[in-house]
Amino acid sequence: MDHKVFIFAVSLLVAYLGCGEAPFLKMTNAVCKSYNKSWVAIHYCRLKAYSRTKTSLNINATFIKPARNISVHLKTMKRASGYKPFLYDFTFDACEFMRRRNQPVAKIIWNMIRNVSTINHTCPYEGLQMLSDFHKVDLPVPLPSGDYLLMVDWLFDGKAQFATNVYFAYMEDLLPTSSKHRRGSKEFPHVRN
Ligand SMILES: *[C@@H]1O[C@H](CO)[C@@H](O)[C@H](O)[C@H]1NC(C)=O
Ligand SMILES: *[C@@H]1O[C@H](CO)[C@@H](O)[C@H](O)[C@H]1NC(C)=O
Ligand SMILES: *[C@@H]1O[C@H](CO)[C@@H](O)[C@H](O)[C@H]1NC(C)=O
Ligand SMILES: *[C@@H]1O[C@H](CO)[C@@H](O)[C@H](O)[C@H]1NC(C)=O
Ligand SMILES: *[C@@H]1O[C@H](CO)[C@@H](O)[C@H](O)[C@H]1NC(C)=O
Repeated sequence: MDHKVFIFAVSLLVAYLGCGEAPFLKMTNAVCKSYNKSWVAIHYCRLKAYSRTKTSLNINATFIKPARNISVHLKTMKRASGYKPFLYDFTFDACEFMRRRNQPVAKIIWNMIRNVSTINHTCPYEGLQMLSDFHKVDLPVPLPSGDYLLMVDWLFDGKAQFATNVYFAYMEDLLPTSSKHRRGSKEFPHVRN
């Protein structure tokens, strides 16, 4: 169930990037890796096309033994001739978070992923962990347009066990303002200046 942790890390990233109407965020790649296959087996880690401008993130993995001490190292990067650190780089106790919801950035992510993950419980986590069809990105803060990477390392007992890295493209403005204008004047001709 540390999936939930990873899920909320992903949500967090998403929360940053995705904002609402005109701007949009599209996940462009997902790369997961187990550093210790006797503890974490990753079966599936992939994006699916959800609509023309959206993809959904799907991950399933098995924790072969119970994980009772989980921390998450979350780092956001922005591309500029290679990915460079951008905005966030911190580690938090995921077991404590699941008891107390005490990390504000993690909380944003948690709210985005809680309905589409198996992490809605406290530590320990064991067995199958899933994030299914995650696509509802809701970022409270707009970002500059560009390519981003959310790197998440999952540590059990202080040692890195697996990584879930998700690449995003963020665009500040999707619709040209000229087309909005034209539509406006047709629907409300009397408002035309
Ligand atoms: C790898 O996983 C096993 C449990 O299957 C654990 O005992 C061991 O400490 C882990 N190794 C590292 C380097 O974390
Ligand atoms: C995990 O992912 C694989 C690949 O999509 C899928 O075949 C399998 O059914 C999944 N496991 C569960 C329990 O959903
Ligand atoms: C999750 O489900 C609850 C209950 O169905 C709903 O109120 C909430 O808005 C959902 N959250 C998201 C992010 O979809
Ligand atoms: C799971 O989520 C529901 C709805 O958000 C909540 O009412 C419930 O207490 C949660 N369960 C656990 C074990 O956290
Ligand atoms: C988790 O494991 C690390 C490394 O062994 C340790 O320093 C830390 O105190 C542990 N946390 C808890 C809550 O047991």
